[in-house]
Amino acid sequence: MGSQQVRMYAVAEMESCVWRYHTQTRHYFIRRPTLSNICVIGTGYVGLVTGVCFADLGNHVVCIDIDPHKIEMLRSGKSPIYEPGLEELLERNMRSGRLSFTDNYIIGMESADFAFITVGTPMSDNGAADLRYVEAAAQGIGKALTRPVIIIDKSTVPVGTGDMVSDIVTSYAQPGIPFSVVSNPEFLREGSAMSDFFKPDRIVLGSTDRTAAQKVAELHAPLSAEIIITDLRTAEMIKYASNAFLATRISFINEIAHICEKLGADVREVARGMGADRRIGPHFLDAGIGYGGSCFPKDVLALHHMAASSGCHPQLLQAVMDINHDARMRFVSKVQTLLGSLEGTIIGVLGLSFKPNTDDMREAPSIDIIQALQAGGAHIKAYDPVAMERAADMMPSVTFCATAYDAAKEADALLIVTEWNEFKQLNWEKVRSFVRRPIVVDGRNLYDPQEMADRGFVYWGVGRGVPPLLLETTSSVQAFKHLSV
Ligand SMILES: NC(=O)c1ccc[n+]([C@@H]2O[C@H](COP(=O)([O-])OP(=O)(O)OC[C@H]3O[C@@H](n4cnc5c(N)ncnc54)[C@H](O)[C@@H]3O)[C@@H](O)[C@H]2O)c1
Repeated sequence: MGSQQVRMYAVAEMESCVWRYHTQTRHYFIRRPTLSNICVIGTGYVGLVTGVCFADLGNHVVCIDIDPHKIEMLRSGKSPIYEPGLEELLERNMRSGRLSFTDNYIIGMESADFAFITVGTPMSDNGAADLRYVEAAAQGIGKALTRPVIIIDKSTVPVGTGDMVSDIVTSYAQPGIPFSVVSNPEFLREGSAMSDFFKPDRIVLGSTDRTAAQKVAELHAPLSAEIIITDLRTAEMIKYASNAFLATRISFINEIAHICEKLGADVREVARGMGADRRIGPHFLDAGIGYGGSCFPKDVLALHHMAASSGCHPQLLQAVMDINHDARMRFVSKVQTLLGSLEGTIIGVLGLSFKPNTDDMREAPSIDIIQALQAGGAHIKAYDPVAMERAADMMPSVTFCATAYDAAKEADALLIVTEWNEFKQLNWEKVRSFVRRPIVVDGRNLYDPQEMADRGFVYWGVGRGVPPLLLETTSSVQAFKHLSV
């Protein structure tokens, strides 16, 4: 089959203990796997979820991390990250003896049949993915190799990294111990990572070693997901292309939102009308303040870098990034327009994490937005249900509040930055009584502009018209004079 893509449909047939899968032309059967010994390298958002969930499927899992603080926490049954449902499964599988943690590669790799690399691949200064953690993980595996193993790269890595991992392991391992490298890009979403693991849309496996890829397919067979087997480089590219496409949808709808705002259309209705078309679909069409997080920003940039360094002209990717940056800055200008000047104002910020149901602050829009507001002289009071502890290191002069209502107290404007569920149903009468000026700038389109106007707020969402007062006067300062204290 060579590098020809094979589409596999793993269908659990419990009675016969086999899984069926097929290509366009042939059917294949794989035996239900025996339980495996798995080593997971890196216990971040991806590694910890991978380790815990494979243990829950009955495998023996040892997770390695170089951060002794994380290992200590994990050994005491505490998750260093917030992910719904994770801690319960962590405790249960540790109690059953199927899941353990170490900072020692020799112990972690001792009986491993499979070794997952799930370390970070952050942005480096030139936009490329920084591969130093992947290199260190490959070295660690090489030095600790005592038995045949399949190395599975789950980190998002530039095309060609699988070959690099193979070279590093070869150069550090004792000669003669066989190993293979399989790329298995991860598609889980923070906030729903557990259900994404157990019910993935698809599993992508790439390798030059077909037998190794099939063994990894067997490991995933209990998930009953579509498995796509391809060559190593194609699998690596599928991850970047997927993230870049989703980021493109977000920037696309944000561009449309900007045009809607200028021309008097409502982007939410536009997105609904577009999304009902099955060729388009409704997902990733929510206009707002742009994408953030640990994946889209760095992955679009890394793909752009890969493309540019190989002589391509990635103009669409450049536009996606520019539009994303503009969306954040446009939000800040709205606040500025409404307040006239930011100097000496108090601004309440609701939501800090890059999206709801996570404490992840990496590349969160809130960081740029708060910095820009502070640069204009505003004092920020912020509230987030789970991300304040992480945010505190990044935002030294922000006042963190215990509730959304505390953040609203004395505020000249209240901003919706992350669409946490608890912000969808605020008691607006109470908020109205707390704020200094009834101004709400909503970066997530959580509210209906008319309802907010009826509640007595000057409300500005994204792509849904401008507050009527702005239409009536030429100067915002003039317009909002009556709202001042
Ligand atoms: N977070 C997501 O939602 C997500 C989704 C899909 C793919 N990914 C990709 O998965 C990879 C991991 O992402 P993450 O968010 O889990 O990262 P993370 O930063 O949360 O976790 C990485 C972990 O690896 C550990 N580590 C670093 N070097 C190590 C080494 N040499 N040996 C052992 N441990 C080491 C770190 O201490 C850290 O705990 C990245 O490539 C990312 O792009 C992430």
